[in-house]
Amino acid sequence: MASAAYARIASTYDDLPVRHALGPEPALVDWSGPASPRVLDIGCGTGLWLARQAALPCAPRLAGVDPSAEMLARALARLPDADLRVALAERLPFPDADFDVVALRFCHHHFADRRSAWAELARVLSPGGVFVIENIDPVRMPGHWIFQRFPEARALDARYPDDGTLLSELRSAGLEATVSMRYTAGTIVLSEALRQARVRDQTHLVALDDAAFDRGLAALTALAEGDPAGHLSTESCVVTLRGRPRF
Ligand SMILES: C[S@@+](CC[C@H](N)C(=O)[O-])C[C@H]1O[C@@H](n2cnc3c(N)ncnc32)[C@H](O)[C@@H]1O
Repeated sequence: MASAAYARIASTYDDLPVRHALGPEPALVDWSGPASPRVLDIGCGTGLWLARQAALPCAPRLAGVDPSAEMLARALARLPDADLRVALAERLPFPDADFDVVALRFCHHHFADRRSAWAELARVLSPGGVFVIENIDPVRMPGHWIFQRFPEARALDARYPDDGTLLSELRSAGLEATVSMRYTAGTIVLSEALRQARVRDQTHLVALDDAAFDRGLAALTALAEGDPAGHLSTESCVVTLRGRPRF
């Protein structure tokens, strides 16, 4: 999805509660390295993850990059003291070995050149540094309400590499990682699903072509108007890769 799309959705991005469901980075909670570790969030968006780390006792020094000036403006408002720059993961504006902890959350499906991004990640990590890459895995969540109601969105799953591909790409860049998964299942109230669909700021709905989106929205509207308090089942799967430079 181009930066143009994020220019449009930047104003509503923080409204979705699930985007705030993030904790402190374990590597920073247990930090025993140099004082005030330098932390980079690649594709930092509106700065939600960086803000969550800001008050940790290790007093991290925060940096972030994002190609969307509109998303980054919101991060800057949230974190006026952070080092935030308009830049791509594929070309980071930082010197070698500059960071102790680097995060990439829900962004690598946008990269035009993942291998360059992993090479840049390896370059800016300090020798003892750690990285964390998180993203949804659409293939493991066919029951998500968006896929149920907008079936053509499944065609966009190809943007998300599987774990094996990611691990092998990282290994080629000199990085090793372990994989974990967080699966959740539940329900969403129909009126809330309809509200979220109308906002259309979740990645599969943004990238879906307009005709397919309109068909799904019309069907969802009819369903929700018939039973606004009804529920849809839903599920999600977030995959986390944690790792370090390989020696
Ligand atoms: C779904 S948002 C995630 C934002 C943030 N990481 C979060 O978890 O809230 C994806 C972000 O990736 C950014 N992005 C897109 N292409 C990128 C690239 N090539 N390099 C770095 N970030 C990119 C977008 O501008 C957007 O802010």
